[in-house]
Amino acid sequence: MALHRLLSQQLLLFGWTILAVTAASQPSSSCINSCGSLSIPYPFGTSEGCYFDESFLITCNNTSGSSTPFLRHCNLTVLNISLDGELRVSNFVARNCYNNSGLVDSDIFHLSLLNFSISYTKNKFTAVVCDTFVIFNGLSRGQNYTTGCLSLCDHINSVVNGYCSGIGCCQTSIPEGVTNFIVGLGSFNYHSTVLDFNPCGFGFVGEEDAYNFSFLDLKFLQNRTTIPLLLDWAVGNESCQDAKRNLTSYACKAAYGECYNFNNGPGYRCNAP
Ligand SMILES: *[C@@H]1O[C@H](CO)[C@@H](O)[C@H](O)[C@H]1NC(C)=O
Ligand SMILES: *[C@@H]1O[C@H](CO)[C@@H](O)[C@H](O)[C@H]1NC(C)=O
Ligand SMILES: *[C@@H]1O[C@H](CO)[C@@H](O)[C@H](O)[C@H]1NC(C)=O
Ligand SMILES: *[C@@H]1O[C@H](CO)[C@@H](O)[C@H](O)[C@H]1NC(C)=O
Ligand SMILES: *[C@@H]1O[C@H](CO)[C@@H](O)[C@H](O)[C@H]1NC(C)=O
Ligand SMILES: *[C@@H]1O[C@H](CO)[C@@H](O)[C@H](O)[C@H]1NC(C)=O
Ligand SMILES: *[C@@H]1O[C@H](CO)[C@@H](O)[C@H](O)[C@H]1NC(C)=O
Ligand SMILES: *[C@@H]1O[C@H](CO)[C@@H](O)[C@H](O)[C@H]1NC(C)=O
Ligand SMILES: *[C@@H]1O[C@H](CO)[C@@H](O)[C@H](O)[C@H]1NC(C)=O
Ligand SMILES: *[C@@H]1O[C@H](CO)[C@@H](O)[C@H](O)[C@H]1NC(C)=O
Ligand SMILES: *[C@@H]1O[C@H](CO)[C@@H](O)[C@H](O)[C@H]1NC(C)=O
Repeated sequence: MALHRLLSQQLLLFGWTILAVTAASQPSSSCINSCGSLSIPYPFGTSEGCYFDESFLITCNNTSGSSTPFLRHCNLTVLNISLDGELRVSNFVARNCYNNSGLVDSDIFHLSLLNFSISYTKNKFTAVVCDTFVIFNGLSRGQNYTTGCLSLCDHINSVVNGYCSGIGCCQTSIPEGVTNFIVGLGSFNYHSTVLDFNPCGFGFVGEEDAYNFSFLDLKFLQNRTTIPLLLDWAVGNESCQDAKRNLTSYACKAAYGECYNFNNGPGYRCNAP
């Protein structure tokens, strides 16, 4: 256990060394590098001079004895940071709820990320609905595009339990490089024929592995309001080829591993040797 901790500290230190080379001013030792149980390695940081640029700023919200880390530019709770370029945050679920009078509660969701993008390999767009179309409108490499899915079911017995079959639950992929998106919902019949078992429609972008559909979700998503979302992060905005032209700022010097281009947005990463 102690050995394991020592090894992971050295790995963290190593990652720090790789990335610190790119920073104009290196983080000082007075930087606070944790918040609650989350450790915050460079290029992430909690105060000026401690992070690579403001997309890596994490603020620690101390309330009633517990500390919650927020990714500052999008105000989402940070769950985990990994130095190989992944960042897990807690994303919100969009919903529309109806009763016999019509729409009673609506919460669309909009996320705007600075230089990070949504991992297109690990996340899916999911809708849990029986009388709804759910729309995903995103910016992917500067292109504004819209996709979505719809599902109509007239009886709970037609819903397949346990996995997202297309009846009661539908799922679609996310393209590469999405940095901004909006999740919106609309209904065909105000849920009037399905109110008893499906008063609300839900739509969310999140880690595929973090959600399994259950027919119990058709009611209120079992009160779930968030889902883990995996973001990709990288250093800078240049490709390896361009970054190599300036050896002073180039992060992947021989001892620190090979440069590889980041294929889900701008920037590059160093592969630890
Ligand atoms: C900090 O937490 C409190 C209570 O949960 C909340 O009201 C406040 O908005 C949070 N601050 C930020 C910056 O998220
Ligand atoms: C939040 O609490 C932690 C631990 O209790 C402390 O180290 C940190 O300085 C606090 N941060 C702020 C901004 O008050
Ligand atoms: C950040 O999120 C919290 C809840 O997670 C919310 O209370 C707060 O108003 C948000 N702040 C901003 C600036 O959006
Ligand atoms: C966070 O990521 C690290 C490294 O990838 C992993 O070892 C750890 O289990 C993760 N923690 C959580 C809570 O997901
Ligand atoms: C529907 O919900 C609204 C808001 O909660 C409430 O005012 C209204 O009475 C409800 N209508 C019915 C038919 O339950
Ligand atoms: C896409 O374009 C529409 C119409 O101009 C706009 O309302 C929407 O906010 C854009 N979407 C994103 C994710 O920027
Ligand atoms: C989803 O189901 C799979 C297979 O049954 C299981 O391994 C996994 O832990 C489940 N995930 C969640 C978040 O419940
Ligand atoms: C959801 O919340 C309601 C009201 O707060 C509660 O009665 C119900 O038991 C909760 N359901 C689950 C699955 O936690
Ligand atoms: C991050 O985005 C901001 C604003 O778009 C830009 O000024 C900055 O250069 C970017 N940083 C990196 C590391 O790409
Ligand atoms: C890359 O970022 C630098 C500063 O962070 C900025 O001056 C430059 O214009 C950016 N280049 C591109 C192609 O976005
Ligand atoms: C190379 O990078 C260093 C450090 O960022 C910078 O000071 C210098 O101006 C850059 N040189 C060129 C030719 O861009």
